[in-house]
Amino acid sequence: MKVINVNASRKYQVVIQDDFSGLKERVAEVFKGKLAVVYDDNTQRLFSDQIKTALSGFELCEITFPHGENTKSLENFGRLLSFLAQNGFTRKDGILAVGGGVIGDLCGFVASSYMRGITYISCPTTLLSMVDSSVGGKTAVNLPQGKNLVGAFYQPSLVYVAISCLNSLPQREIECGMGEVVKYAFLDCSLKKEDIIRRDYQDIIYKCLQIKRKFVEEDEFDKGERAKLNLGHTIGHAVESLEDFNYSHGLCVFNGIDHIIDLSVDFYGYNEEKRQELLSLLNAYPYTKIKRRTASELIEKIKVDKKAESDLINIVLIKEIGNTQVVKIPLQKLKESL
Ligand SMILES: NC(=O)c1ccc[n+]([C@@H]2O[C@H](COP(=O)([O-])OP(=O)(O)OC[C@H]3O[C@@H](n4cnc5c(N)ncnc54)[C@H](O)[C@@H]3O)[C@@H](O)[C@H]2O)c1
Repeated sequence: MKVINVNASRKYQVVIQDDFSGLKERVAEVFKGKLAVVYDDNTQRLFSDQIKTALSGFELCEITFPHGENTKSLENFGRLLSFLAQNGFTRKDGILAVGGGVIGDLCGFVASSYMRGITYISCPTTLLSMVDSSVGGKTAVNLPQGKNLVGAFYQPSLVYVAISCLNSLPQREIECGMGEVVKYAFLDCSLKKEDIIRRDYQDIIYKCLQIKRKFVEEDEFDKGERAKLNLGHTIGHAVESLEDFNYSHGLCVFNGIDHIIDLSVDFYGYNEEKRQELLSLLNAYPYTKIKRRTASELIEKIKVDKKAESDLINIVLIKEIGNTQVVKIPLQKLKESL
């Protein structure tokens, strides 16, 4: 078992355990009320029995949403709020999310607004949500006009990671989470290439969350340093959209970092040896290679995504492994370097 203490506007613990057996004790430390347990259809099928056994003695009300990004909608935001009201939830009660980033983002946002804020506990079940979305307090739903357009900063009261959840996770979702893991290795030297090759998930999750904790504690409301967590994402999002979302988010982040390596080599004037050093970290996980899009295709997409009002864009570059920098560059320069 490993524990991380997060000192954000709310102080909370992230507990990393083999399974759900320690959940009750941990929940009881932060909370005594009634819990709405929220799943998607996959996590309900896989984990509902384990959660009910683990939390025996707690009053639980379960609700299940369809899996997939569309669940992060205003409609489901309203549906979950109504579910709480219909079941007589008060400010003393709370929400327990059992799922990936979709269920986590929806539940966090509902918890932030029901009765102006109730206890939110997260049990992330995908690798991406274990290493990234469950910690840091960003919550959101999507609008037809774009992703994550409505949300709030709202920290959980407890994050409980049961590593055994990864046993049922499809390879595509593991690869997706590894895209974010490799991102962390570029952001901070405490996660090394050898860690990625060894793939001890307990160790990887712990190291990634320690890195995320540092960024969140330094810049909880995303006004500076936290932007570095977007390494590879501007181009990654463009690729995701150009490929009609047929590839996972994390795979597109791998692709985005691949482009960022070229940009960084160009920007800092590095030699081929340095490029190979950066590529060797990127390739420490054997991710699926997807066709590289042209500079024009990427720039057109980035312009639309970023609603670029000027021809300048903020992009995170890699100065050294463990040392990234947010740089404002003209879109034209970005195009020439891609
Ligand atoms: N809040 C943040 O800081 C933050 C950061 C990154 C991403 N996100 C958000 O996270 C979302 C993506 O999250 P995700 O990648 O976890 O996707 P997800 O929640 O859609 O889960 C992916 C799939 O895996 C299934 N699944 C979940 N756990 C499983 C398990 N243990 N075994 C088998 N199947 C399982 C789900 O049913 C789903 O089909 C996006 O909406 C993104 O915007 C938020």
